[in-house]
Amino acid sequence: MPKPKVFVTRIIPGAGLMKVRAGCDAEIWPEQLPPPREVLLKKVATCEGLLSLLTDRVDAELMDAAPKLKVVSNFAVGFNNIDVAAATVRGICVGNTPDVLTDATADMALTLMLAAARRLVDANRYALAAQWKTWEPLGHVGQDLVGKTLGIVGMGRIGFAVAKRCRGGWGMSVLYHDVRTSEIADRELGARRVDLDALLAQSDFISVHANLDDTTRGMFNAAAFRKMKPTCVFVNTARGPHVVQRDLIEAVRTGTIFAAGLDVTDPEPPNPADPLLSTPGIVVAPHIASATVTSRNGMAQIAADNLLAGLSGKPLRAWVNPEVGPRRR
Ligand code: GLV
Repeated sequence: MPKPKVFVTRIIPGAGLMKVRAGCDAEIWPEQLPPPREVLLKKVATCEGLLSLLTDRVDAELMDAAPKLKVVSNFAVGFNNIDVAAATVRGICVGNTPDVLTDATADMALTLMLAAARRLVDANRYALAAQWKTWEPLGHVGQDLVGKTLGIVGMGRIGFAVAKRCRGGWGMSVLYHDVRTSEIADRELGARRVDLDALLAQSDFISVHANLDDTTRGMFNAAAFRKMKPTCVFVNTARGPHVVQRDLIEAVRTGTIFAAGLDVTDPEPPNPADPLLSTPGIVVAPHIASATVTSRNGMAQIAADNLLAGLSGKPLRAWVNPEVGPRRR
């Protein structure tokens, strides 16, 4: 029996790629940059499976160009690049890669929190530019974490892992904003669910872990930054469009908040001339939160398993739209 035809939009770790190659007639896009849209549309036309990245827009147009498509397996926990409703009505399964990147992403949020709070990147630039002349009592003064208040926006797996580190490591108090109560956060971390305004006003550190949708897009705007403390450190490892970036730059530039650490931007990558990259107090990383060996290998394995399950009519290991049910192609 011929193997099902699939398109994989980038080279992913071998742990997953081996499984995909063994079970499928796979074409793998070998370039560093994503396949251009017209290429992607052409490639999926005859495929039963697509292994996509968060940089690939998987919308109704693409699905209509792929009449045999049974499964879209995203190599990411986030799936805002996929029109899940459009997939569900067409009987297409959608998979993602949760859990295996929780710790790596939480560690990245902490890395950015510390780097921004201690002005590490500005200080590093200063040292490299030979501006370091002596030990300065008033130079490079940052914020402490011990005993401060952490505000988590989106208390899911990753938000909880960040809060757990902050509670256990620095004895921080934890506030969170979410559509639902997290009993485990309340019980294990003494966390308190509050409304967004209270979180913005009371937190010394704010870390974003919400899904990106119409209710969260642009939620961190000038009005939100004005509600924060002038000592606040803002961290985003979720998705760039949560933040109105020009408002964030202005907030840091004018001292409305103290600093920001971003693993995600809007767009990605930012224009090299964007003041986001040159404003003191803003630390930017190129969307690398899940970039550890363990995490990326785990993501590759789940993405491969999701793809193979989607092709063979089995339940996906991490299934975004199980409601597709009997409509499944
Ligand atoms: C990365 O941003 C992911 O969603 O996995």
